[in-house]
Amino acid sequence: MAKSAAVRARFFDDVLRDALKQGITQYVLPGVGGDSRTHRLDLPASCTVYELALPDVMEYRQSVFAGDTHSACTHVMIGCDMAKDDWVSILKDKGFNPEIPTLFLAEGLCMYIPDGGRELFAKAHSIMARSGSILAFDCLNRTFVEEEMKEDNMEAWRTHVGEGVRGHMSCPETVLSDIGYSGVEVTELAEAGVEVTELAEAGIKHGYASQGSIEFLRKHPRDPTCEDDGIPRNLFAVCMVER
Ligand SMILES: C[S@@+](CC[C@H](N)C(=O)[O-])C[C@H]1O[C@@H](n2cnc3c(N)ncnc32)[C@H](O)[C@@H]1O
Repeated sequence: MAKSAAVRARFFDDVLRDALKQGITQYVLPGVGGDSRTHRLDLPASCTVYELALPDVMEYRQSVFAGDTHSACTHVMIGCDMAKDDWVSILKDKGFNPEIPTLFLAEGLCMYIPDGGRELFAKAHSIMARSGSILAFDCLNRTFVEEEMKEDNMEAWRTHVGEGVRGHMSCPETVLSDIGYSGVEVTELAEAGVEVTELAEAGIKHGYASQGSIEFLRKHPRDPTCEDDGIPRNLFAVCMVER
C-alpha cells in the first residue's frame, strides 16, 4: 500500500510539474489529506493552491503545515465535506478565479465518494471556465471496489484507512466525455511506463493491474469501452477543458 501510494504520488507530481510548465498558476486539491505536494515542489509565489479536506482533517493539516517556510505559493485551506457542502461557492468566496486555467487534482479521493466522483468532476468542469484547465485523478473500477467491500477487506480498510471504499468508475473515458471534458487519457501505472517490480508479485497475486508488472497488463489489456472486465483496476485519468 505504502509503495503503491508512493508511485501514485510520483504520477501526480509529474502532472503538476507539467501544469506548471504550461503556465498554470491556480491549483485545486480536493481531499488533500496529508498530501505535501504543493509544499515539496517549488511552486512560485505567483501560484495559489486551494486545498479542500474534511474539517477535522483540515484542522490537523493546518497544524502540520503551519510552520512551512519552504513554499512560496499561497495556500488557501478549506475544511468542508465535498459530498454535502456547497464547495463551489466556498471556493469562489475564498478567491478562486474561474477566468484562469486551473489544475484540479484529486488524488486518492473518488473511491471515498459514493458516486465515484461524477458530481465532483461535473461541478469542477462547470467552474473551470478557461480552455487549458486540466483535471487529473485516480479511481477504482467496479471489480476493485466490490472486492474491497467484502467484509474481510473492509475490516482492513477501516483499520488502515479509516473509511470504506465505496465509489467506483470503470470507464472514465465515457464519464468524462459525457460531462464535456476532452482529450481524456486513462492509464494504469505500469502501462504509463512505471516499472513497479517490487510490487509485481503481490499485484499479480491480487490481480491489481496498477500494482502489477507491464507483463501482467499485456496479458490483461483493458478495453476502454468495457464497463468492467472482472479484473480489479486502479485507473489514472487526465483530461482537459476546451470550450
Ligand atoms: C486516501 S486519502 C488521500 C489524501 C491525499 N489526496 C493523498 O493522496 O495523499 C482520502 C482523503 O479524502 C478525504 N475525503 C474523503 N471524503 C471526503 C469528502 N466528502 N469531502 C472532502 N474530503 C474527503 C479524506 O479526508 C482523506 O483526506
